[in-house]
Amino acid sequence: MNDFEVLEKLIKGRRSIFPASFLDKEISKATIQSILESANFAPTHKLTQPWRFVVITGDAKIRLGLTLANLYKEGTLPDQFLQKKYDSFTDKIAKASCIIAINIQFHPDKLPAWEEIAATACAVQNMALTAQSLNVGTYWSSPTFIEKLDSFLGLSENEKCYGLFYMGYHNEGFKAANRTPIAEKVKWLVQ
Ligand SMILES: Cc1cc2nc3c(=O)[nH]c(=O)nc-3n(C[C@H](O)[C@H](O)[C@H](O)COP(=O)(O)O)c2cc1C
Repeated sequence: MNDFEVLEKLIKGRRSIFPASFLDKEISKATIQSILESANFAPTHKLTQPWRFVVITGDAKIRLGLTLANLYKEGTLPDQFLQKKYDSFTDKIAKASCIIAINIQFHPDKLPAWEEIAATACAVQNMALTAQSLNVGTYWSSPTFIEKLDSFLGLSENEKCYGLFYMGYHNEGFKAANRTPIAEKVKWLVQ
C-alpha cells in the first residue's frame, strides 16, 4: 500500500471503541509512549503546544473511577440518583487498560482559547490514529464534571481538562462510519 492508502485505511477504519469492548490485556508503557509521542506533532499556532496529558493506569484508575462516581453522586439529586450509573463509572474505568486525561494549557496573552482547543483536538486525533495503527481502541469521553477533576489531575490554574481518552485492546472488526457525504458539507468557489 502507498502512503495515501495506508492513511486512508487508518482514517476511515478508526472508530470510537467503548470500554465494554475492551479486552483484559495491558497496553505496554512503550505503546502508550508511542501514542503520546504522535500527539506532540500536531500543528500549533505560535508553537504554544498547549496539549497536556495525565496518564492514568494501575491503582490510579481505581481512584479515578471512585472520584468520577462520587462527582456524579454529589451532582445528582437523591431522588434521581441511580446506583447502576454510579457503578458504571468504576466499571468503565476498570475495563480500560489506560486512560489519558486530555488537558489544555492556555496562553491568553498569546492566543484565543479556541486555537489552543483546536490544536489539542489535532493532537488527540494523532493519538487516535496512532492507536488505530497499533490495534488499540480509543474513545474521547467528555462527562460534564471533568471540570471538577483539576485537583485529582494536579492541574495548574491556566490548565483545564477537556476529556478522558479511554484506551484498550479489542476484537471489534471493521465498522463503517456513520457519516453523511462530504459533498453536503463543501462549497466550491471557482470564480
Ligand atoms: C470532543 C469529543 C467529545 C466526545 N465525547 C463523547 C462522550 O462524552 N461520550 C461518547 O459516548 N462519545 C463521545 N465522543 C465520541 C463520539 O461519540 C464519536 O466520535 C461519534 O459517535 C462518531 O463515532 P466514531 O468516532 O466511531 O467515528 C466524543 C468525541 C469528541 C471528538
